[in-house]
Amino acid sequence: MDLELSGKVVLVTGSSDGLGAAVARRLVREGARVALCARGAERLEATAAALRADGGDVLAMPADVSKAYELEHFVDAAQARWGRVDGLVNNAGSAAGKPFASVTDAEWEADLQLKLFAAVRAARHVLPHLSASGGGSIVNVLSIRAKEPGAQSTPSSVTRAAGMALMKALSKELGPRDIRVNAVLVGMIESGQWEKRAQKAGKPLAELQAELARNAGVPLGRIGKPEEFADVVAFLLSPRAGYISGTAINVDGGLSGAV
Ligand SMILES: NC(=O)c1ccc[n+]([C@@H]2O[C@H](COP(=O)([O-])OP(=O)(O)OC[C@H]3O[C@@H](n4cnc5c(N)ncnc54)[C@H](OP(=O)(O)O)[C@@H]3O)[C@@H](O)[C@H]2O)c1
Repeated sequence: MDLELSGKVVLVTGSSDGLGAAVARRLVREGARVALCARGAERLEATAAALRADGGDVLAMPADVSKAYELEHFVDAAQARWGRVDGLVNNAGSAAGKPFASVTDAEWEADLQLKLFAAVRAARHVLPHLSASGGGSIVNVLSIRAKEPGAQSTPSSVTRAAGMALMKALSKELGPRDIRVNAVLVGMIESGQWEKRAQKAGKPLAELQAELARNAGVPLGRIGKPEEFADVVAFLLSPRAGYISGTAINVDGGLSGAV
């Protein structure tokens, strides 16, 4: 299926590694022009260089999305380079869940800044550009915890539930401007964060992943691949998903009990 993304301009936050980088690779394959950001300049540039080697028209800008000025500068840079914006993927984030009583105010604040306020600010800043392009698509990357918070999942599950409410509210408000807003709720998918966990546990990555999938009871019996996630995001960004808005899709191998 041709996703009709050729020439579209899409911003992907947190895209030097993991799921964000997989989305960027998928979009480049579709002929989209992609703006990448992350905090670490070196890894970001390496990811951008690989995409350019594949023929991608790519902008890479070091930016911490929890800092309003850096995030806005990133959006402005993409608009300045290509003169339009058609899509935004709010992906930057990290795992954060531990016993409630041990989560400090500073950790609540940091989680909300990174995963909620960044999505709020990016959407607000990108809106005029999407409108000027005649519409567009916003995809917020969340976690299945947004629908089904578990024990020891704060602050992340609360931030993710707020992200889902943001997505729904925006989909209602922006629909008349032909801007679709959706969320993808991730279960367990291979990425840099799992590699770091494997190193910490002193286990080979494949062994850790098989163990996690078994212990969690993933119905499909395995952890997901970043490409499987990227396919869903690329579809939601594309005109082929033209009548899909206000939806939160689980990409979790059937793990979540919530529909
Ligand atoms: N993989 C999973 O199983 C899973 C499960 C549930 C939810 N998720 C969510 O899916 C998203 C992607 O996760 P992932 O597994 O791909 O993570 P990852 O492998 O750790 O990659 C995270 C990416 O985001 C960037 N990043 C982190 N903090 C940032 C910040 N403040 N500003 C800008 N960029 C930032 C990182 O680069 P720098 O460190 O250089 O900034 C990196 O490029 C996250 O929101 C995560 O919470 C993933």
